[in-house]
Amino acid sequence: MGEGSAMSDAFPQDFTFGVATSAYQVEGGIENDWSDWEAAGKLKDPHARCGRAVDHWNRFDADVELIERLGATAYRLSLEWARVEPEPGKFDDAALRGYRARLETLTRRGIRPVVTLHHFTHPRWFPRDTPWHQPASLASWARYVKEAAQLFAGLDVVVCTLNEPNVFLMGGYLAGLMPPGFKDPGLTWAACQNLCRAHVLAREAVKAVNPSAPVGLAQHLMVFAAARAWNPIDQALSRLAEDNFNHAILEALTTGELKVRFPGFVATAVTLDGAARSMDYLGVNYYTRAHLKFLPGAPWAEYVFKDPNRRGLTDIGWERYPEGFAQVLKQLARYHLPIWVTENGLDDRRGDRRPEFLHQHWKALLEARAAGADVRAYLHWSLLDNFEWLEAWGPQFGLYRVDRATLERFETPACAYFRRVATTKQLTAP
Ligand code: FCB
Repeated sequence: MGEGSAMSDAFPQDFTFGVATSAYQVEGGIENDWSDWEAAGKLKDPHARCGRAVDHWNRFDADVELIERLGATAYRLSLEWARVEPEPGKFDDAALRGYRARLETLTRRGIRPVVTLHHFTHPRWFPRDTPWHQPASLASWARYVKEAAQLFAGLDVVVCTLNEPNVFLMGGYLAGLMPPGFKDPGLTWAACQNLCRAHVLAREAVKAVNPSAPVGLAQHLMVFAAARAWNPIDQALSRLAEDNFNHAILEALTTGELKVRFPGFVATAVTLDGAARSMDYLGVNYYTRAHLKFLPGAPWAEYVFKDPNRRGLTDIGWERYPEGFAQVLKQLARYHLPIWVTENGLDDRRGDRRPEFLHQHWKALLEARAAGADVRAYLHWSLLDNFEWLEAWGPQFGLYRVDRATLERFETPACAYFRRVATTKQLTAP
């Protein structure tokens, strides 16, 4: 990473700095398939509940001021499908009006909304009646996105159809760790095809209302490495993960062909109507590197987070690996699309390690840009401490810390640093 050269230390003037959240993790008061999962005692702490979350639904205007104070000009938020369509085909007007008002507020304040339509959660009826592995899922989804797209009329928004479909498929269909809780490769493959089709349907619905809104999705990209560097099976596993977890869906939505690859050959492939060139930008969520190890029996593989550079794992136990950020961004150049970093961040419960993390990751981003990756935006995960899925309330990903008892928001030391870089577009040390 070149230190000090004028070019690599400056972001372009039109580069976007922003922050991200998702509805279920911050809004509060939502009942959906995830709240049922909690009630069934499936989180690490079986008593943990999302509940009122951090009450972002009621504190939206005050939270927008927090976004402004960061000098951020984009806010990635998601619509909660369960709020919008609590019963099949019955839309909640108050919820729709509430979301529209939020998008208008952001726009008025010069903050561009980046709106995710699906961020892991569903109304209760969806997995019960029309789960993703069934063709009927698409009719349900089409009805929802047609309604949701109306919210974008006349607004300058960026639309993110799906958040991390690869993580949802791994967690919800292959590993049984999140709802709907399957452990079934056949269902995973069926659901994967339908999620790609869902992206295409959502794109069509959005373009019908707002043809100029850029539409893409947010993919979770990891760096994979062999847990035992000398072991050829671990090496093959890393390639398999890289091809399928990182790239299969992105490739499908650029070429129209969804493929499962094994090292050296394509195991199965399907052509998806309308999927070719169906992204206007690539959304990237980057956090860490995983080391993969082959196991001689089910589940056949495990991943571990190592700390070979002795930087200290983040509090959730993930390796800090900014080099990997540059690596994945450079890899994406092959898709010839503008890149938006839709998430990047760390769990820092002490609250003082985020400035250094930002500095390292921004340096990596500039390095990737200099090498030809067309990165246009960086959205930090997260604006606020929030409910972290399986881990519930332990992790603290927020630029603003939230007191769990009072829900009061407090600046962390990273806020001033974020504002300085976001407003000057100059990468200086924290
Ligand atoms: C990503 C999710 C996001 C958040 C971060 C920490 O995988 O998209 O909701 O939980 O991880």
